[in-house]
Amino acid sequence: MIKQISTIALVAIAAIAFTGCSGEKKATEVKTYKYSTTEVYEKSCSKCHGLNGEGNVEKKTPALNDRTAGEMAQDLFDVKNGGTNQSSGTDHEIMEHNMQKLVDKGFDYDINSMAEYMSKLSKK
Ligand code: HEC
Repeated sequence: MIKQISTIALVAIAAIAFTGCSGEKKATEVKTYKYSTTEVYEKSCSKCHGLNGEGNVEKKTPALNDRTAGEMAQDLFDVKNGGTNQSSGTDHEIMEHNMQKLVDKGFDYDINSMAEYMSKLSKK
């Protein structure tokens, strides 16, 4: 009987310890990307948006170097999540479609890192 109780206690402790551990692991888990933010920008985004994010009239691409990192992060989030600007309701259907193709090619990126990179483009 005592042995049985201690077994249950052990299982309970193990379960708690395990949950705590996996929770901790999740928080520190970092998504890894095939290319660095700079590589993604220079190998893909720049082809349509320009090396300095100045935009391209012929390709009908908007400039991406005209806003703060915070604003850019919001816009990047939008094109990665359904294509509609959460605040203004602007549609980014084309870019959403492009983004899916780019992700398939390995050109995925961390939103905050890309936003930071783009916010510095015009000052290069
Ligand atoms: C094949 C050309 C092409 C490539 C490559 C491309 N874009 Fe775009 N992008 C467009 C076009 C066209 C638009 C405008 C239409 C739209 O918003 O859907 C646009 C719009 C955007 C917008 C929304 C514009 C705004 O003012 O908020 C963001 C953000 C964006 N692109 C980011 C990127 C990033 C980041 C990359 C690289 C990973 C990239 N684009 C690569 C063509 C491209």
